[in-house]
Amino acid sequence: MIPELNSPSVWIRDRARVQQIIQSMRCTGPSTLQVISDFDMTLTRFAYNGKRCPTCHNILDNSKLISEECKIKLADLLNTYYPIETDVTQPMEEKLPLMVEWWMKAHELLIEQKIHKDHLAIVVRESDARLRDGYKLFFDHLQDKGVPLLIFSAGIGDVLEEVIRQAGVFHPNVKVISNYMDFDETGTLRAFKGELIHVYNKREGALLNTEHFQELRTRPNVVLLGDSLGDLTMADGVHDMENILKIGFLNDKVEENKEPYLTAYDIVLEKDETLDVPNAILLYIT
Ligand code: TMP
Ligand code: MG
Repeated sequence: MIPELNSPSVWIRDRARVQQIIQSMRCTGPSTLQVISDFDMTLTRFAYNGKRCPTCHNILDNSKLISEECKIKLADLLNTYYPIETDVTQPMEEKLPLMVEWWMKAHELLIEQKIHKDHLAIVVRESDARLRDGYKLFFDHLQDKGVPLLIFSAGIGDVLEEVIRQAGVFHPNVKVISNYMDFDETGTLRAFKGELIHVYNKREGALLNTEHFQELRTRPNVVLLGDSLGDLTMADGVHDMENILKIGFLNDKVEENKEPYLTAYDIVLEKDETLDVPNAILLYIT
Protein backbone atom coordinates (compact mmCIF):
# COMPACT_ATOMS: atom_id res chain seq x y z
CA MET A 1 0.00 0.00 0.00
CA ILE A 2 2.99 2.30 0.63
CA PRO A 3 5.88 1.29 -1.66
CA GLU A 4 8.45 3.24 0.44
CA LEU A 5 7.96 0.66 3.22
CA ASN A 6 9.61 -1.97 1.01
CA SER A 7 12.91 -0.13 0.74
CA PRO A 8 15.94 -2.12 2.01
CA SER A 9 16.68 0.51 4.68
CA VAL A 10 13.24 0.03 6.27
CA TRP A 11 13.03 -2.52 9.09
CA ILE A 12 9.68 -3.62 10.50
CA ARG A 13 9.26 -6.33 13.10
CA ASP A 14 5.50 -6.79 12.69
CA ARG A 15 4.25 -5.72 9.27
CA ALA A 16 0.67 -6.81 9.88
CA ARG A 17 0.43 -4.60 12.97
CA VAL A 18 1.93 -1.61 11.16
CA GLN A 19 -0.55 -2.07 8.32
CA GLN A 20 -3.42 -2.27 10.73
CA ILE A 21 -2.38 0.94 12.53
CA ILE A 22 -1.94 2.80 9.25
CA GLN A 23 -5.33 1.64 7.94
CA SER A 24 -7.01 2.63 11.15
CA MET A 25 -5.44 6.11 11.01
CA ARG A 26 -6.43 6.49 7.36
CA CYS A 27 -10.04 5.59 8.18
CA THR A 28 -10.43 8.38 10.74
CA GLY A 29 -8.28 10.88 8.84
CA PRO A 30 -6.39 14.08 9.63
CA SER A 31 -8.82 15.47 12.21
CA THR A 32 -7.89 12.67 14.62
CA LEU A 33 -4.15 12.83 14.09
CA GLN A 34 -1.26 14.56 15.87
CA VAL A 35 2.44 14.23 15.08
CA ILE A 36 5.11 14.33 17.76
CA SER A 37 8.71 14.56 16.67
CA ASP A 38 12.14 14.86 18.17
CA PHE A 39 14.37 17.47 16.51
CA ASP A 40 18.11 16.76 16.48
CA MET A 41 19.03 13.87 14.20
CA THR A 42 15.32 13.20 13.56
CA LEU A 43 14.10 16.27 11.67
CA THR A 44 17.71 17.28 11.01
CA ARG A 45 20.25 15.19 9.15
CA PHE A 46 22.81 13.05 10.95
CA ALA A 47 25.41 13.41 8.21
CA TYR A 48 25.91 15.17 4.88
CA ASN A 49 28.65 14.31 2.38
CA GLY A 50 30.24 12.00 4.94
CA LYS A 51 30.45 14.71 7.60
CA ARG A 52 28.40 14.79 10.82
CA CYS A 53 25.76 17.50 10.99
CA PRO A 54 25.36 19.64 14.12
CA THR A 55 22.75 19.36 16.86
CA CYS A 56 21.22 22.58 18.28
CA HIS A 57 23.97 22.61 20.90
CA ASN A 58 26.68 21.98 18.29
CA ILE A 59 25.44 24.93 16.20
CA LEU A 60 26.47 27.19 19.09
CA ASP A 61 29.51 25.10 20.10
CA ASN A 62 31.04 25.42 16.61
CA SER A 63 30.20 29.10 16.19
CA LYS A 64 32.19 32.29 16.52
CA LEU A 65 30.24 33.09 19.70
CA ILE A 66 32.33 30.56 21.64
CA SER A 67 35.98 31.05 22.64
CA GLU A 68 38.58 28.49 21.50
CA GLU A 69 39.16 27.43 25.12
CA CYS A 70 35.47 26.84 25.68
CA LYS A 71 35.16 24.93 22.39
CA ILE A 72 37.71 22.43 23.70
CA LYS A 73 35.75 21.97 26.93
CA LEU A 74 32.47 21.48 25.03
CA ALA A 75 34.11 18.97 22.69
CA ASP A 76 35.48 17.07 25.70
CA LEU A 77 31.97 16.88 27.13
CA LEU A 78 30.61 15.56 23.83
CA ASN A 79 33.35 12.94 23.59
CA THR A 80 32.69 11.82 27.15
CA TYR A 81 28.91 11.75 27.25
CA TYR A 82 27.72 11.02 23.68
CA PRO A 83 29.02 7.41 23.84
CA ILE A 84 27.07 6.99 27.08
CA GLU A 85 23.90 8.43 25.54
CA THR A 86 24.00 5.93 22.70
CA ASP A 87 25.19 2.87 24.66
CA VAL A 88 22.22 0.51 24.78
CA THR A 89 23.99 -1.87 27.15
CA GLN A 90 24.34 0.60 30.03
CA PRO A 91 21.35 0.57 32.41
CA MET A 92 19.08 3.62 32.31
CA GLU A 93 19.51 4.28 36.08
CA GLU A 94 23.22 4.79 35.46
CA LYS A 95 22.75 6.93 32.37
CA LEU A 96 20.16 9.34 33.81
CA PRO A 97 22.40 11.26 36.26
CA LEU A 98 25.18 11.37 33.65
CA MET A 99 22.86 12.97 31.08
CA VAL A 100 21.79 15.61 33.64
CA GLU A 101 25.49 16.22 34.31
CA TRP A 102 26.22 16.69 30.58
CA TRP A 103 23.40 19.17 29.99
CA MET A 104 24.17 21.14 33.18
CA LYS A 105 27.89 21.41 32.38
CA ALA A 106 27.23 22.36 28.74
CA HIS A 107 24.65 25.00 29.70
CA GLU A 108 26.99 26.46 32.32
CA LEU A 109 29.73 26.82 29.68
CA LEU A 110 27.31 28.45 27.22
CA ILE A 111 26.18 30.93 29.89
CA GLU A 112 29.82 31.86 30.62
CA GLN A 113 30.18 32.85 26.96
CA LYS A 114 27.68 35.69 27.36
CA ILE A 115 25.84 34.84 24.16
CA HIS A 116 23.68 37.67 22.82
CA LYS A 117 20.24 36.83 21.48
CA ASP A 118 20.70 38.99 18.39
CA HIS A 119 23.55 36.73 17.25
CA LEU A 120 21.57 33.48 17.20
CA ALA A 121 20.04 34.01 13.76
CA ILE A 122 23.48 34.73 12.30
CA VAL A 123 25.18 31.63 13.71
CA VAL A 124 22.29 29.43 12.59
CA ARG A 125 22.58 30.88 9.08
CA GLU A 126 26.34 30.27 9.05
CA SER A 127 26.06 26.72 10.45
CA ASP A 128 25.99 23.33 8.73
CA ALA A 129 22.56 22.53 10.21
CA ARG A 130 20.39 20.75 7.67
CA LEU A 131 16.84 19.53 7.87
CA ARG A 132 16.34 16.10 6.30
CA ASP A 133 15.47 15.97 2.61
CA GLY A 134 11.71 16.12 2.24
CA TYR A 135 11.30 18.51 5.18
CA LYS A 136 9.28 21.02 3.18
CA LEU A 137 6.68 18.47 2.16
CA PHE A 138 6.55 17.20 5.74
CA PHE A 139 5.93 20.60 7.37
CA ASP A 140 3.74 22.01 4.57
CA HIS A 141 1.54 18.94 4.33
CA LEU A 142 0.83 18.84 8.07
CA GLN A 143 -0.02 22.56 8.01
CA ASP A 144 -2.29 22.10 4.94
CA LYS A 145 -4.15 19.23 6.61
CA GLY A 146 -4.45 21.05 9.94
CA VAL A 147 -2.48 18.37 11.78
CA PRO A 148 -0.66 19.68 14.88
CA LEU A 149 3.07 19.00 15.01
CA LEU A 150 4.77 18.97 18.38
CA ILE A 151 8.55 19.23 18.21
CA PHE A 152 9.87 17.86 21.47
CA SER A 153 13.56 18.49 21.85
CA ALA A 154 16.31 18.22 24.42
CA GLY A 155 18.19 20.71 22.26
CA ILE A 156 17.83 24.49 22.54
CA GLY A 157 14.42 25.94 21.67
CA ASP A 158 15.71 29.32 20.50
CA VAL A 159 18.16 27.67 18.08
CA LEU A 160 15.68 25.07 16.85
CA GLU A 161 13.04 27.74 16.14
CA GLU A 162 15.58 29.73 14.17
CA VAL A 163 16.46 26.67 12.05
CA ILE A 164 12.83 26.06 11.06
CA ARG A 165 12.10 29.79 10.69
CA GLN A 166 15.01 30.22 8.28
CA ALA A 167 13.82 27.15 6.36
CA GLY A 168 10.41 28.83 6.02
CA VAL A 169 8.48 26.03 7.74
CA PHE A 170 7.68 27.42 11.19
CA HIS A 171 3.96 27.24 10.47
CA PRO A 172 1.18 28.00 12.99
CA ASN A 173 0.48 24.28 13.57
CA VAL A 174 3.98 23.80 15.08
CA LYS A 175 4.46 23.83 18.85
CA VAL A 176 7.89 23.40 20.45
CA ILE A 177 8.77 21.97 23.84
CA SER A 178 12.48 22.40 24.52
CA ASN A 179 15.11 24.12 26.63
CA TYR A 180 14.68 27.88 26.16
CA MET A 181 17.30 30.51 26.89
CA ASP A 182 16.66 33.21 29.45
CA PHE A 183 18.21 36.57 28.50
CA ASP A 184 18.83 39.54 30.79
CA GLU A 185 17.69 43.10 29.98
CA THR A 186 20.71 43.61 27.71
CA GLY A 187 19.83 40.48 25.70
CA THR A 188 22.66 38.40 27.16
CA LEU A 189 22.16 34.72 28.06
CA ARG A 190 21.97 34.36 31.84
CA ALA A 191 20.23 30.99 32.37
CA PHE A 192 17.95 28.39 30.85
CA LYS A 193 14.23 28.54 31.63
CA GLY A 194 12.11 25.93 33.37
CA GLU A 195 12.80 22.25 33.93
CA LEU A 196 15.78 20.86 32.06
CA ILE A 197 14.90 18.46 29.24
CA HIS A 198 17.56 15.91 28.38
CA VAL A 199 17.33 12.83 26.11
CA TYR A 200 15.97 10.51 28.78
CA ASN A 201 13.44 12.62 30.71
CA LYS A 202 11.01 13.49 27.93
CA ARG A 203 8.27 11.64 29.80
CA GLU A 204 8.50 14.14 32.67
CA GLY A 205 8.59 17.01 30.17
CA ALA A 206 5.45 15.65 28.50
CA LEU A 207 3.60 15.32 31.79
CA LEU A 208 4.42 18.96 32.66
CA ASN A 209 2.75 20.13 29.45
CA THR A 210 -0.75 18.94 30.31
CA GLU A 211 -2.41 21.97 28.72
CA HIS A 212 -1.05 21.21 25.26
CA PHE A 213 -2.17 17.58 25.37
CA GLN A 214 -5.52 18.58 26.86
CA GLU A 215 -6.14 20.83 23.83
CA LEU A 216 -5.38 17.90 21.53
CA ARG A 217 -7.52 15.34 23.35
CA THR A 218 -9.77 14.87 20.27
CA ARG A 219 -6.75 13.53 18.37
CA PRO A 220 -6.15 10.00 19.65
CA ASN A 221 -3.88 8.93 16.75
CA VAL A 222 -0.19 9.71 17.07
CA VAL A 223 2.68 9.42 14.63
CA LEU A 224 5.90 9.66 16.63
CA LEU A 225 9.33 10.30 15.10
CA GLY A 226 12.55 9.88 17.03
CA ASP A 227 16.15 8.78 16.83
CA SER A 228 16.83 7.86 20.44
CA LEU A 229 15.17 5.28 22.67
CA GLY A 230 14.44 8.24 24.99
CA ASP A 231 12.16 9.72 22.34
CA LEU A 232 9.60 6.95 22.82
CA THR A 233 8.22 8.64 25.95
CA MET A 234 7.42 11.91 24.14
CA ALA A 235 3.81 10.76 23.72
CA ASP A 236 3.32 9.88 27.39
CA GLY A 237 1.15 12.98 27.91
CA VAL A 238 -1.34 12.12 25.13
CA HIS A 239 -4.93 11.69 26.34
CA ASP A 240 -7.00 8.63 25.38
CA MET A 241 -4.53 7.40 22.78
CA GLU A 242 -5.97 4.91 20.30
CA ASN A 243 -3.13 4.26 17.89
CA ILE A 244 0.51 5.16 17.92
CA LEU A 245 2.92 4.56 15.05
CA LYS A 246 6.52 4.89 16.19
CA ILE A 247 9.10 5.61 13.50
CA GLY A 248 12.76 5.53 14.56
CA PHE A 249 15.81 6.77 12.70
CA LEU A 250 18.74 4.46 13.39
CA ASN A 251 21.63 6.75 12.52
CA ASP A 252 24.57 5.37 14.45
CA LYS A 253 25.95 2.12 15.93
CA VAL A 254 23.61 0.26 13.59
CA GLU A 255 24.70 -3.28 14.43
CA GLU A 256 24.47 -2.95 18.24
CA ASN A 257 21.28 -0.93 18.17
CA LYS A 258 19.23 -2.75 15.57
CA GLU A 259 17.63 -5.24 17.96
CA PRO A 260 16.60 -2.77 20.67
CA TYR A 261 15.34 -0.32 18.04
CA LEU A 262 13.31 -3.02 16.31
CA THR A 263 11.72 -3.94 19.62
CA ALA A 264 10.94 -0.33 20.57
CA TYR A 265 9.97 1.26 17.24
CA ASP A 266 7.31 -0.04 14.82
CA ILE A 267 9.35 1.12 11.84
CA VAL A 268 13.14 1.52 11.91
CA LEU A 269 14.90 3.54 9.21
CA GLU A 270 18.52 2.56 8.88
CA LYS A 271 20.88 5.37 7.85
CA ASP A 272 18.10 7.10 5.93
CA GLU A 273 18.80 10.84 5.68
CA THR A 274 15.36 11.66 4.26
CA LEU A 275 11.81 12.09 5.50
CA ASP A 276 10.52 10.05 2.54
CA VAL A 277 9.05 7.22 4.62
CA PRO A 278 7.24 9.43 7.18
CA ASN A 279 6.02 11.60 4.27
CA ALA A 280 4.68 8.61 2.35
CA ILE A 281 2.80 7.41 5.44
CA LEU A 282 1.42 10.87 6.26
CA LEU A 283 0.28 11.41 2.67
CA TYR A 284 -1.46 8.02 2.72
CA ILE A 285 -3.30 8.54 6.00
CA THR A 286 -4.31 12.20 5.57
P1 TMP B 1 17.04 16.11 20.67
O1 TMP B 1 16.17 15.71 21.81
O2 TMP B 1 16.42 17.24 19.87
O3 TMP B 1 17.48 15.00 19.81
O4 TMP B 1 18.40 16.82 21.28
C1 TMP B 1 19.32 16.18 22.09
C2 TMP B 1 20.65 15.94 21.44
O5 TMP B 1 21.56 16.99 21.74
C3 TMP B 1 21.26 14.69 22.00
O6 TMP B 1 21.39 13.70 21.02
C4 TMP B 1 22.62 15.12 22.53
C5 TMP B 1 22.85 16.44 21.91
N1 TMP B 1 23.72 17.34 22.71
C6 TMP B 1 24.84 17.91 22.10
O7 TMP B 1 25.10 17.65 20.93
N2 TMP B 1 25.63 18.75 22.81
C7 TMP B 1 25.39 19.07 24.12
O8 TMP B 1 26.13 19.85 24.74
C8 TMP B 1 24.25 18.47 24.75
C9 TMP B 1 23.95 18.78 26.18
C10 TMP B 1 23.44 17.63 24.00
MG1 MG C 1 17.46 13.34 18.61
